[in-house]
Amino acid sequence: MSTPLHYFNYQKGVLSTGGCSLTKIAEEVGTPAYVYSAEAFLTPLQEFRQGLQGVDHLICFAVKSNSNLAILKLLGDAGAGMDIVSGGELYRARQAGISDDKIVFSGIGKTAKEMASALQGKTGSIYSFNIESIPELHTLNRVALSLKKKARVALRFNPDVNPKTHPYISTGLKENKFGLHKSEILKIVHTLKELPAIELRGISVHIGSQLLSLSPLKDSFQKLKALLLEIEPHLIIPLEFIDLGGGVGVCYKNERAPSVQKYCDLVQSFFGKTSKQQKPLRILLEPGRVIAANSGILLTEVIYRKERPRKDFLVVDAAMNDLMRPALYGSFHDIVPLQETKRKGKKGQLAELRKTDLVGPVCESADCFGKNRLLPRSLQAGDRLAILSAGAYGFTMSSNYNSRPRPPEILVENGKYRVIREREQFEDLTARESFLTRS
Ligand code: LLP
Repeated sequence: MSTPLHYFNYQKGVLSTGGCSLTKIAEEVGTPAYVYSAEAFLTPLQEFRQGLQGVDHLICFAVKSNSNLAILKLLGDAGAGMDIVSGGELYRARQAGISDDKIVFSGIGKTAKEMASALQGKTGSIYSFNIESIPELHTLNRVALSLKKKARVALRFNPDVNPKTHPYISTGLKENKFGLHKSEILKIVHTLKELPAIELRGISVHIGSQLLSLSPLKDSFQKLKALLLEIEPHLIIPLEFIDLGGGVGVCYKNERAPSVQKYCDLVQSFFGKTSKQQKPLRILLEPGRVIAANSGILLTEVIYRKERPRKDFLVVDAAMNDLMRPALYGSFHDIVPLQETKRKGKKGQLAELRKTDLVGPVCESADCFGKNRLLPRSLQAGDRLAILSAGAYGFTMSSNYNSRPRPPEILVENGKYRVIREREQFEDLTARESFLTRS
């Protein structure tokens, strides 16, 4: 089960993961720092694979959720493919040793240059371009023709389903910029002959992220199934796969998210061996958050307690540039002290709690990790905290705002930790800048 404190828990009074104390890591590596658990990344991947047993499948990790090379390698070695959305993510996936036949390329703005690169890997061309518009399909045809290649394609279907999630991460409604409407897909199917370099192999769908109910997914699967039936008779070469996207939500606070098992059961009932489908298609999934979110935390240290009559501010050394989800979406991340006694109080006494805003040093009021939280009054400068559920869309959305070097990333595996991305230094901030005037 994906909960914030499942893989990060108190051992001998100190928040730890996989046998490593986070205090030790903070002492040796400093703060702020992202810490990930390898076991936590691998477990949901195995759950997906188990849940889809009996059907030909490929789990393509959504690289945008956590793109560190060591994480991609870890998942790749365990059999995962990758879902990418840019030339940069393609580069990362290939650097991590992912073979091209396990890469799918989503996104509405693929450039000709990105397409050319995806068509010309060392191991061939990528498994699928998930196409989002008719002009994109024409560009891909042109690029592939010029390289004398064939491009394998899935058409991304916009099923016009409300995923009931934050509007910024909702993608399956007609009004969203994503995917092709049914009429556009039918038009493409009927004019495929005009696109000699395109091999239509699949249909993809992704309606949004952090989905806490299976019912919108069910609606979209239903619409997808109807679409498949409608286009099948018009295809000279039958489809090979469907790509059902990502989106399974996780628990950040007390949400009841669907389990991977339940999600896979739904997939199986629509498209697996038990479904009434004549010949089951290969199933691809693109999960990100459910694999990464509760597999990582952001370690931080209190710099000041700023006391005020109504509530205090705890100023910490992490900021919105390190983890921007709370500032951007108003999203909730639980915050816990590394010392268990600070959380619960000393033996027999309950910790005295105080209404607190946990804020970073950036010059914006949006730089707040938690508003009006009841946190122990005993937390003072020098105490360390973990901002939980930060493994997905944490580091990948970080920036250098306020000229803050980005934090390191640490991976805990087999009882040991290692730095998988070093802390940026001030020199990194200006390495690509110059004030010399051009002659
Ligand atoms: N496939 C496609 C085509 C996507 O656009 C996404 C996410 C995924 C897969 C992975 O979805 P997941 O399994 O992670 O829900 N920055 C936001 C999330 C943006 C999600 C964008 N697309 C956040 O921090 O909540």
